[in-house]
Parts: sequence; C-alpha cells; structure tokens
Amino acid sequence: MNIEQLIEEPPSLSEEELAARRDRIARDMQAARERAEAAAAVQAAQRQASLAHEAVRPAGERLIERRCHGCHTPETFESDNLTPLGWRLTLWRMEWWHGVALEPGEYRQLHEALVERSPASRGRALGEVALIISFPLLLVLLTLWRRRRPHS
Ligand code: HEC
Repeated sequence: MNIEQLIEEPPSLSEEELAARRDRIARDMQAARERAEAAAAVQAAQRQASLAHEAVRPAGERLIERRCHGCHTPETFESDNLTPLGWRLTLWRMEWWHGVALEPGEYRQLHEALVERSPASRGRALGEVALIISFPLLLVLLTLWRRRRPHS
C-alpha cells in the first residue's frame, strides 16, 4: 500500500476501535487539563505566599527599598551606622544634593526605619554629643576668659 492508496482509501476502523481512539484522546485531553490546573494552582499559591511575605515586612523597609535601592545596593547601608542626627543629615543630603524625591511623610518614616535598623554605636553617639556641646561650651569659656582679663 503506497501513500496515494492510503489517502484514497484510509484504513477503515471498526466502531470499537474508533470508540477506543476517541476515549484515549479524551483521556489525554483531560490529563493535560488537570496538569495545567495543578500548575496554575501552584503558581497562585506562590504568588499568595510572596504577597503575604511582602505584607509582613515593615513598611519602612519597603520604603527604603523603593527610595534608596535605585542608587545603592543594600550593603551600602549595612556598613553605615549613624545616630538619629546622622541619618537626618544623610537624608537631607540625599534629598538636596542627589535629588531624591520624597513624598510628605516619607521622610519621617525613612528616618525611623534607618535609625532602628542601623543605629550608631554608643561610643559614636557620645562622641557626636560631645562634639555638638563643645562648640557653645568653647564660646562660653572664651567669653569668660575675655571678661576676666583686665581692661587695658
Ligand atoms: C539619586 C541617587 C541616590 C539615591 C536615590 C539615594 N542616594 Fe544615597 N548617595 C548617593 C550618592 C551619589 C552618594 C555618594 C556621595 C555622598 O555621600 O553624598 C550617596 C551616599 C550615601 C550614603 C553614604 C554612603 C557611604 O558610606 O559612603 C548613605 C548612608 C546614603 N547615601 C543613604 C541613602 C538613603 C538612606 C537613601 C534613601 C532615602 C539614598 N541614599 C538614596 C545617591 C543616592
């Protein structure tokens, strides 16, 4: 039997053979549908899990990622431990110098998150306080010293 003959006279199948073939095709289609549904369910579960993960992360952390990770890698901050004043000055610098745009309220939220996440060591905080009060103290001492000097 050559191809022309096959096309002109397709092998005739009995009713049972046709029914069995239809059955098999229907079963294959059903199995494929079930596999697709299972895959979709797994994907939906993964999406749900990642949304839940996102929701429990503190809003401040998410804000840092949104506002700072455009220019910095996360590691940039891990090595920076600043006092509340230090973070304030840094945020100002990012805003004024580097053009970081913050919406109202975001400044405070970012500041709180950064202070909580990367606080300065006690020594550094004390050093900063000492530096800040040393200026007025110096002025006071200078004034006192000039007053005590006899006028010529
Ligand atoms: C538009 C880009 C840009 C964005 C966005 C940005 N920064 Fe910066 N940042 C810089 C540049 C440039 C420097 C380096 C020059 C400097 O220190 O001023 C820097 C430096 C820093 C440093 C000092 C790093 C070091 O140890 O030398 C800190 C801390 C910092 N940024 C924090 C932040 C925080 C927090 C945010 C999010 C609110 C932020 N940055 C967003 C551009 C950016």
